[in-house]
Amino acid sequence: MFYASSLLLLAGVWVGSTVAEWPQGVPLDEFIVEEREIALRGVLDNIGPNGARVPGAAPGIVIASPSKQNPDYFYTWTRDASLTFKTIVDEFIDGNADLQPYIDDFVHAQAILQTGSNPSGTLLPSGTGLGEPKYKADGTRFNGNWGRPQRDGPALRATALIGYANWLVEHGEKERVKTVIWPVIANDLSYVGEYWNSTGFDLWEEVMGSSFFTTQSQYRSLVEGGTLAETLGVLCEACSEAPQVLCFLQTYWNGEYFTANINDNSGRGGVDANTILGPIAAFDLHAACDSPSLQPCHSRVLANFKVFVDTFRNSSLYPINAGIPSTEGIAVGRYPEDSYFIGNPWYLITLGAAEFLYDAVAQWAAQGFITITPTSLPFFLGLYPNATTNSTYKRHKNSSPFHAIVNATTAYADSFVSIAQKYTPSTGSLAEQFLKTPPGTPLSATALTWSFASFVSMSARRAGRFPPSWLPSSSSLSLPSTCTASSVTGTYSPATAAGAPEVTVPCTTTVRLAVNATTYYGENVYVVGNITDLGIWDAENAQTMRSDRYTEAWPLWYAEVPLDVGPEGAVVAYKYVRQQDCGQDWVWEEGNRTVVVPGCGGEGVVEEEGAWVGRGGSAGGVSCVKDKR
Ligand code: NOJ
Ligand code: NOJ
Repeated sequence: MFYASSLLLLAGVWVGSTVAEWPQGVPLDEFIVEEREIALRGVLDNIGPNGARVPGAAPGIVIASPSKQNPDYFYTWTRDASLTFKTIVDEFIDGNADLQPYIDDFVHAQAILQTGSNPSGTLLPSGTGLGEPKYKADGTRFNGNWGRPQRDGPALRATALIGYANWLVEHGEKERVKTVIWPVIANDLSYVGEYWNSTGFDLWEEVMGSSFFTTQSQYRSLVEGGTLAETLGVLCEACSEAPQVLCFLQTYWNGEYFTANINDNSGRGGVDANTILGPIAAFDLHAACDSPSLQPCHSRVLANFKVFVDTFRNSSLYPINAGIPSTEGIAVGRYPEDSYFIGNPWYLITLGAAEFLYDAVAQWAAQGFITITPTSLPFFLGLYPNATTNSTYKRHKNSSPFHAIVNATTAYADSFVSIAQKYTPSTGSLAEQFLKTPPGTPLSATALTWSFASFVSMSARRAGRFPPSWLPSSSSLSLPSTCTASSVTGTYSPATAAGAPEVTVPCTTTVRLAVNATTYYGENVYVVGNITDLGIWDAENAQTMRSDRYTEAWPLWYAEVPLDVGPEGAVVAYKYVRQQDCGQDWVWEEGNRTVVVPGCGGEGVVEEEGAWVGRGGSAGGVSCVKDKR
């Protein structure tokens, strides 16, 4: 190990030489015990209001990472926050009572976030604002350019909250669930039931289309939402969409693997961690392996897992995996075409691969047999070379291959954790990625909440701790014979008992703004002004403008922004602002512009045009550090 001396040095300074070999030098079991503590602490340290790493975050707000530049992750994403809270709720149910105040803060924070108007829309009248992917640390809207809407957020949040709600119901707090938590869940379920069949951005915020992870998460939320509604004696009309969502979920299968994105034009091959993270988020220990909910132990899901992992065995893609035998775990990342920070392995995906395998093993053990189909045979052959197709191996037979397969799969899972261990720094902190070439240095966002949460959930599965079931045992979940593109119009209202402010149907007038501004490639123009919808003079919160009609002769930047100025109308002050590349300062227009915006309910569109006033920007040049976006 050529960097042993620097490790020793670090260890010597910080913690004394006896633990110099931590974490690489310790046995896996020991590593997991210690790292799990660090990871759980890491999660809590990134949550407001008291999180040690995130001063300024509002109560219950989960910051994605304390990193404020290259990349700036000092925001809360509904996906990251909800997946994290799913894990926190599971840990709470498992007996960690200290976590309850965090969960109550989360409920409160989400009720507020649901009601704010944002660039995706509003809560009233039709729920569009729920598709907003991220918010500022204080819970206010983020107006910058982003891949929106993202439709996995409401589903994942519903799932996290339903887990908590079920526990409360079992502990005699049905009324509290009905009045406080259900209204938050109901908004999210309404959104899922109304928009599951509309395209949106995938979990990696890059591809506009339909996404496997999103669809699978949506299915789960509608099923468990329906069960909870029944328990509470309330209606969930959106939940009746579940069979159609399930039908749609099957269509991602291409004969060899699940294509991560469909109805898109990303031009990618479709092999993607999206389809591994979906099944672990939808995991139900007691589900049958042939359940169309697509559990980790499903034949197609296992086949897909092998295709996914093997893609990253290619050492020209990930040099770090060179020389690792095909029976052992490797470092895995988002998808082979990834170029974000040059495209590296991710901790949460490598740990997710382990969790996936522990889940499958647990499901085989729970049902007491393993069935191998022609589809899953390649997966099993890798672990048990004598596997034969169309065979069922029962656990209770002593000589049964069942045990050999379970042992091999568990060892395989462990080997993915060992890879994560190998690239964990001595502090135990988990970034987003580690370099695909030796020495696998951590990079991109530091102390990523989602990385930590994935360690916590992986170690729970490895220790035989499983979340409550969510799939009803009845056969009523069979697939419709034909899929229909349906939708149920949602009903939305602020969850005031959970702390949401009262809101009313917004009163907006659309203003069309256009400015001629010659820009260099990489420079963007925004509009900022003195009202909330224009960011109150904060460039970070300005509204984006479009350049799809920009030409050299006519350098047009334009935007159509819905402005809420109340029924009376108002004179709004604004100006344009240029965002420079490479983290340079913004360039503001000289002087202020004004526009008279009529009150809502009256005339719709106001048109304003002009030419940029003031100096232009200049590119940062070759020497600047590019935030690869
Ligand atoms: C930031 C997103 O969070 C990340 O997922 C994406 O890869 C990059 N932007 C590039 O689009
Ligand atoms: C980038 C990831 O692609 C996305 O899934 C995540 O939500 C953000 N980073 C924040 O962690």
